[in-house]
Amino acid sequence: MRIDILTVLPELLESPFNHSILKRAADKGLVDIHVHNIRNFATGKHKQVDDYAFGGGAGMVMMIEPVEKAIQSLTRQRNYDEIIYMTPDGKRYTQREANRMSLLNNIIILCGHYKGVDQRLREHYITSEISIGDYVLTGGELAAAIVADSIVRLVPGVISDETSALTDSFQDNLLAPPVYTRPADYKGWKVPDVLLSGNFKAIEAWRMEQSIERTKRLRPDLLDEIKD
Ligand code: ADE
Repeated sequence: MRIDILTVLPELLESPFNHSILKRAADKGLVDIHVHNIRNFATGKHKQVDDYAFGGGAGMVMMIEPVEKAIQSLTRQRNYDEIIYMTPDGKRYTQREANRMSLLNNIIILCGHYKGVDQRLREHYITSEISIGDYVLTGGELAAAIVADSIVRLVPGVISDETSALTDSFQDNLLAPPVYTRPADYKGWKVPDVLLSGNFKAIEAWRMEQSIERTKRLRPDLLDEIKD
């Protein structure tokens, strides 16, 4: 899978993709992540990428031309399944969307900055608009890193235990059950007996019970989604 991220602040994305699981996924050739500086596609002495909003008002708007050129430099080379725009007024991101996108081959993620991109880019190039939550970040870069991370870990081979991603919270619209490791007794705080029993059927049943109980208590809205 290939992910191309377009941004005016590439420095912000250096760290997330150069460490840990994401780095290993790239080293193993399972994913290919490229960060592109939109400013490299700007023209003129000042390499301008933003301009005042028509109609006035505070905040700058990302200009069409440099972003269009950046997108076209990629789409000329290969087909893209999705061109995603990170924006607080996009569709709320969920695990279901991460699952869907992990099956795609090539995606572009455009990070919004300032007041956002010129609306005509959204109308003519963007295929999905994603928000990671109802709050506003200074730019789409951190949101893009979150989306890329959540997709990459689902690509087969990225997480060593194949079943691990399938038992995450949200995979069945249920929160994950609690987990424990050694020691089995820490200062008298004990791990539930069933987990030490070696009875895998009983363990599975306990985990399912815990998942349902936690979901009912903490995120009842997820259970409503199952019914819908
Ligand atoms: N850019 C700024 N805020 C954002 C958010 N909540 N989600 C996605 N992109 C954003």
